[in-house]
Amino acid sequence: MKAIICTQYGPPEVLQIKEIDKPIPKDNEVLIKVMATTAHIGDTRIRRVDPFLVRLMFGLFKPKKNLILGLEISGIIESVGKKVSLFKPGDEVFALTGFGLGGYAEYRCLPEKVKDGTQERKSLVTLKPENLSFTEAATVPAGALTVLKNLQKAKISKGQKILINGASGSLGTYAIQLAKYYGAEVTAVCSSANFDLVNSIGADHVIDYTKEDFTQHQGQFDIVYDAVMKSSASACRKILKKHGVFLNNYFLPKIMAEDLPYLKKLIEENKLKPVMDRTYAMAEIVEAHRYVDSGHKKGNVAIRIAEE
Ligand SMILES: NC(=O)c1ccc[n+]([C@@H]2O[C@H](COP(=O)([O-])OP(=O)(O)OC[C@H]3O[C@@H](n4cnc5c(N)ncnc54)[C@H](OP(=O)(O)O)[C@@H]3O)[C@@H](O)[C@H]2O)c1
Repeated sequence: MKAIICTQYGPPEVLQIKEIDKPIPKDNEVLIKVMATTAHIGDTRIRRVDPFLVRLMFGLFKPKKNLILGLEISGIIESVGKKVSLFKPGDEVFALTGFGLGGYAEYRCLPEKVKDGTQERKSLVTLKPENLSFTEAATVPAGALTVLKNLQKAKISKGQKILINGASGSLGTYAIQLAKYYGAEVTAVCSSANFDLVNSIGADHVIDYTKEDFTQHQGQFDIVYDAVMKSSASACRKILKKHGVFLNNYFLPKIMAEDLPYLKKLIEENKLKPVMDRTYAMAEIVEAHRYVDSGHKKGNVAIRIAEE
């Protein structure tokens, strides 16, 4: 099968398409024909070894042999192992591959169930939302799960005021929609070029970060979510209410098997929709990573692995 291999750490050009063996599912695994994946900021950071600790996971001097990036996928189940009972060939799914990665390939095996302590629980492979294309569905798992867990951690509730910094990015666009779903009033921080975008998905107020320092804003918030990781708890203290919560993307609660099905339900009820920026073909992976490296994408960037 074809896979995009991260041959070195460095610029996007280190990503090269190679022919490698097609994986064979173990008894508890499904074999997914990958339809789409994403140029996720996490993939670009591993490629750049940012932070440096990435090397501990993926190889000290060069990436481990045949390192395949791709944190999230959508696809079609091609075959299932002997012990698999939840899925069958032909099922359309989306999944978080996580730091096992492997989405930048024509096929990926994933377990139906994973060990959680002494218990077995369902893994993060879930039937795809029926109202999304494969490219749209691939962009959901990492970003939307991160935001969901964060907002749940902050115990977001109806009527609260939340400020979202980096509102036009992948996390920001999921955060606006999920905060609105929970009934919060949203102030979105982004550049004025993205005001229409954030308003279209529910932002109540906007602040242009190129003209105003949001940490000097007059209002006070129940939650400040620094989705783009460019601020800090101490800088935001003044704009938080007494028992207000500062969030960024460190220290997320554990993602549970029910979380991705919950997002699927919200998507099918039209409460949540991925914001799509660009979609690239597999052969355009270098351009895709270059674009994400620019730091100015709007919502999500998908990679088409197979034609829909
Ligand atoms: N996405 C995930 O699933 C995920 C998961 C865990 C952690 N994280 C981390 O969370 C951070 C954000 O990820 P992301 O995927 O949402 O990023 P992203 O989509 O690449 O963010 C790009 C957006 O951020 C905006 N932006 C850039 N600088 C800004 C600033 N100073 N103030 C406000 N907005 C600014 C850009 O708008 P302009 O073009 O107007 O500048 C652009 O629309 C990253 O540090 C990432 O490593 C992401």
